[in-house]
Amino acid sequence: MKTKYLSGEKDNIAATISLAASLLAEGEVVGFPTETVYGLGADATSEAAVAKVFAAKGRPSDNPLIVHIADREQLVDLVTEVPAYVEVLLDAFSPGPITYILPSKERVARNVTAGLGTVAVRIPSHPVALELLRACKLPIAAPSANVSGKPSPTTAQHVLDDLSGKIAAIVDGGSAMVGVESTVIDCTGAVPFVLRLGSITAEEIAAVVGDVKVLNVAGTEMDIPKSPGLKYKHYAPEVPLILVNGDVDRFAEVIRDLERGGQRVGALVSSTTAKKLRAVKVIDLGEGLDTIAKNLYDALRSVRKTDLDVVVCESFPLDGVGKAIMDRLTRAADDIV
Ligand code: TXA
Ligand code: MG
Repeated sequence: MKTKYLSGEKDNIAATISLAASLLAEGEVVGFPTETVYGLGADATSEAAVAKVFAAKGRPSDNPLIVHIADREQLVDLVTEVPAYVEVLLDAFSPGPITYILPSKERVARNVTAGLGTVAVRIPSHPVALELLRACKLPIAAPSANVSGKPSPTTAQHVLDDLSGKIAAIVDGGSAMVGVESTVIDCTGAVPFVLRLGSITAEEIAAVVGDVKVLNVAGTEMDIPKSPGLKYKHYAPEVPLILVNGDVDRFAEVIRDLERGGQRVGALVSSTTAKKLRAVKVIDLGEGLDTIAKNLYDALRSVRKTDLDVVVCESFPLDGVGKAIMDRLTRAADDIV
């Protein structure tokens, strides 16, 4: 199949939305922009359409999908109850990069939820995503639009790099604004339970609802992952990634040792650190945690095994989106030194 490229520019947006909405209604798979990363969308009520998403990504069938909707009316159609604290969170953060896991009314196809009895729901804030969801009037199941295991896509080109020829169309809405996936919260208990960190932090959630629990995943082996996706290797670049703790001197030392061993080393660092490093291939993530989050997946995707053997990445402060950045890097890393 030839993947249709649909421009999200002002002059094309009306035609793009109407074509993308009809493709979705016909059971086709369409890549589309969200504020976090690009999604790979399909009609969540159609088992056959959703099966195409799993096939295109090579995604394990036990890993459920997030259902994207345009508004709160659609939420009530999908879940059996909306706890009071979810109403508060919806007021504070939706539309936006936050996903709520709630008891499912089972209105979506079985393969969306991997038989869990709960459904993950999110109202994205990207204007193109919202327009598309309003136009098709369907709940849209959409994982990140990458081949399973690779970094999530933050541009339409990333989606084409992974999935060209395997999906009906891609809607180009420019670079994703946030760059890391939504904060996922299990809302089936008495207090919200953060399963995946994102740009909306546990502290920000606690500030509006009081109590919040956070799944501690870094470095722990979990027997039964709360969120099935957490057990799979993610975000891996083409060559091994080594995450380095410590200051710039230690970072430079790790690079020197690898280079002495004959390795071609790439350094994934902030602009500030880049200025202090010499004689290495430097991939500059920019300055400030929000910018680093926005550039992270493009940087991981730019690593090619034709010119590098290994990539080393510095550690970032655990403030704001920094925790989500470090969570993704920890999962991408082959080694942490
Ligand atoms: O920002 C995002 O969330 C992006 C954009 C496209 O919206 N989507 C995304 O989807 O990151 P995906 O499939 O890559 O990650 C969804 C995560 C997985 O870890 C999955 O296991 C978890 O959400 N999940 C989905 N439904 C769940 C459920 N019912 N219970 C627990 N975890 C669930
Ligand atoms: Mg994903």
